[in-house]
Amino acid sequence: MLPFTSPIGLATSRLALRALVPADAGPLFATYTGDAEVARYMPWRRHEAQAQTERMIGAAAQLAADRSAYLLAIADTAGGAPAGLVNLAGGDHGVSIGFGLARPSWGRGYGREIVAAVVGWLIDHPSVWRVWGYCDTANAASAAVMLAAGMQEEGTLRRFAVHPNLSPEPRTCRLFAAVRGEGAGPETDLPATAGG
Ligand SMILES: CC(C)(COP(=O)(O)OP(=O)(O)OC[C@H]1O[C@@H](n2cnc3c(N)ncnc32)[C@H](O)[C@@H]1OP(=O)(O)O)[C@@H](O)C(=O)NCCC(=O)NCCS
Repeated sequence: MLPFTSPIGLATSRLALRALVPADAGPLFATYTGDAEVARYMPWRRHEAQAQTERMIGAAAQLAADRSAYLLAIADTAGGAPAGLVNLAGGDHGVSIGFGLARPSWGRGYGREIVAAVVGWLIDHPSVWRVWGYCDTANAASAAVMLAAGMQEEGTLRRFAVHPNLSPEPRTCRLFAAVRGEGAGPETDLPATAGG
């Protein structure tokens, strides 16, 4: 269970997070879930019908109610269709972040802006110590966003995730994370004489 309530309303100068609503299904299917370029490196298969996006939105409400995951719309404060989605999952002290933008919203700095804001918000939460994300090794844009948002690259996860729009085989990924209070963990609080 996620140790925080949904960050609905979290805003930057241009963007804000809001709950998904049924009316988002059409625009999201047209520019995101049904778009092969957006879905290329995602862990879900590109939607072939709007009904799949409608079901995703319905499932998001239940996952949020259970505090299992928060799938939120990235809203452009200028209005219009969702600019993209952010997904937060995990529990305990570590939270995973997933994100994507509809193709018309690429290349404007939105990715860096919203991911930096969400990671900062999470790390400021007293129960969250680690925010992590991964991307396919071929997804240079995602890696650049996570680095630009202040996350650090931690390593390579060989054969870590299936990206079904590319291949049925698990693919090698890059791991990124931001942590709070690095170096201040219990082990560094042990007396200098403590062995082990
Ligand atoms: C990844 C994604 C969110 C990037 O968003 P964006 O708003 O276009 O990125 P930004 O404009 O904020 O750019 C941030 C950095 O990424 C770099 N970048 C953006 N697109 C890039 C690309 N195609 N290749 C390499 N670098 C790229 C920018 O140059 C910038 O780098 P800098 O900080 O060194 O200047 C967007 O491409 C996307 O939605 N892709 C499809 C979904 C996806 O793959 N999500 C991630 C799944 S792990």
